[in-house]
Amino acid sequence: MKKLFIKTYGCQMNTYDSARMADLLAPLGYGAVDTPEGADMVILNTCHIREKAAEKVYSELGRLKALKRAKPDMLVAVAGCVAQAEGQEMVARAPVVDMVVGPQSYHRLPEMIARHAREAGHVLETDFPALEKFDSFPEVTSDSGISAFLTVQEGCDKFCTFCVVPYTRGPEHSRSPERIIAEAKALAARGAREIMLLGQNVNAYRGTDSHGRAWNLARLIEALAKVKDIWRIRYTTSHPRDMDDDLIAAHGEIEKLMPFLHLPVQSGSDSVLAAMNRQHSADDYRGLIARLRAVRPDIAFSSDFIVGFPGESEADFEATMALVREIKFAQCFSFKYSPRPGTPAAAAKKLVAETVKNERLQRLQTLLLDQQDQANLAAIGKTMPVLFEKPGRGKRQWVGRSPWLQPVHVEGAASLLGTIADVKIACLTANSLHGALVADAFHSVPA
Ligand code: 5AD
Ligand code: SF4
Repeated sequence: MKKLFIKTYGCQMNTYDSARMADLLAPLGYGAVDTPEGADMVILNTCHIREKAAEKVYSELGRLKALKRAKPDMLVAVAGCVAQAEGQEMVARAPVVDMVVGPQSYHRLPEMIARHAREAGHVLETDFPALEKFDSFPEVTSDSGISAFLTVQEGCDKFCTFCVVPYTRGPEHSRSPERIIAEAKALAARGAREIMLLGQNVNAYRGTDSHGRAWNLARLIEALAKVKDIWRIRYTTSHPRDMDDDLIAAHGEIEKLMPFLHLPVQSGSDSVLAAMNRQHSADDYRGLIARLRAVRPDIAFSSDFIVGFPGESEADFEATMALVREIKFAQCFSFKYSPRPGTPAAAAKKLVAETVKNERLQRLQTLLLDQQDQANLAAIGKTMPVLFEKPGRGKRQWVGRSPWLQPVHVEGAASLLGTIADVKIACLTANSLHGALVADAFHSVPA
């Protein structure tokens, strides 16, 4: 067996793509290993979303240089969004790289390996043949776990002014519903009990079935909820503009759709939202949250925020803080604005000073962490169904997730894995809930 080491950076879609690359290379005799030492092939699956994420790739390539000196025939491939955005510069800056493959060209990896063996120099593939890619993936063969990712949509046509995604992942493309359903069945057969539907703009999903009929995300979720042995469904990441009536209704009607939604808002200021080209106001967002809470009262929300976007005043930032105080999020991600080459906002003049960005980020994160603690504290004393996914650190300890995506630790037998059981929450440590199994509720599996 040839040894394949894949290091994944960034979002869940990269995790999914890394698994597909492993599936694709398995027939060529490659098997996954946990460290790059002695590997025959190393793939860095990279993220370009913020500057820091992209920098990490270059430091990793520095480390790989030494390994390649010891094993000159080791293949080094850079995949993902840095590959797409900086492929040419990358081979010049880091000659250790043999192959550069953009996110829409993974399916060409076997052919690229053959080409690299034949020809001298670097092999680059950074086109956007999305249709071809999805059609040529092999069936899922890697172990995807109890909670599995499933890409249903890729790319973005929104062009928020700060974001590289429309350039690195290309235009929106939705997979056919039949293929997605088949993949969900294959995942269930391999032990998946929860599926996380992935897309850069997942709720803009518009698939076409073999009869030429269009499916939206709500319809897809409804069909997936009928797949045997899939008990829980989630989706990420959504854009507020694409939360249509059907999808909102689905949250009230489909029991398997979990009551937790990641719905990035980025800012609470209308002028910043306009400068970001988000195409909605802060009140539009408030309205969506209210409608979702009306159909699913226990729904919890998470979001993404950017502080220090060019032109953001103290009043703009205060509007973000006010929105957060009002909505009360269960868990959030917040970032300092980082200019990305080639995006419209990178040319902006009215920059926010780094010290101001730091101070605002700290204030926002303090508030968000407090809200996260409140959400977790509210769980103490409650009983909730937990899907157990993996062993914990301690002996006989198991970790699962609540419907609201909180990690839950309990002590119990190994047979808990891959089942849903009711847990009474006793206490909280950091971000995890700890509890005890409720007697007789073991294996309380939904229909
Ligand atoms: N600077 C800072 N944060 C960014 N994000 C995307 N682009 C940038 C950028 N240029 C954040 C957004 C997005 C999340 C995935 O990353 O909040 O929702
Ligand atoms: Fe980027 Fe905006 Fe598209 Fe999200 S919706 S991927 S933030 S351009």
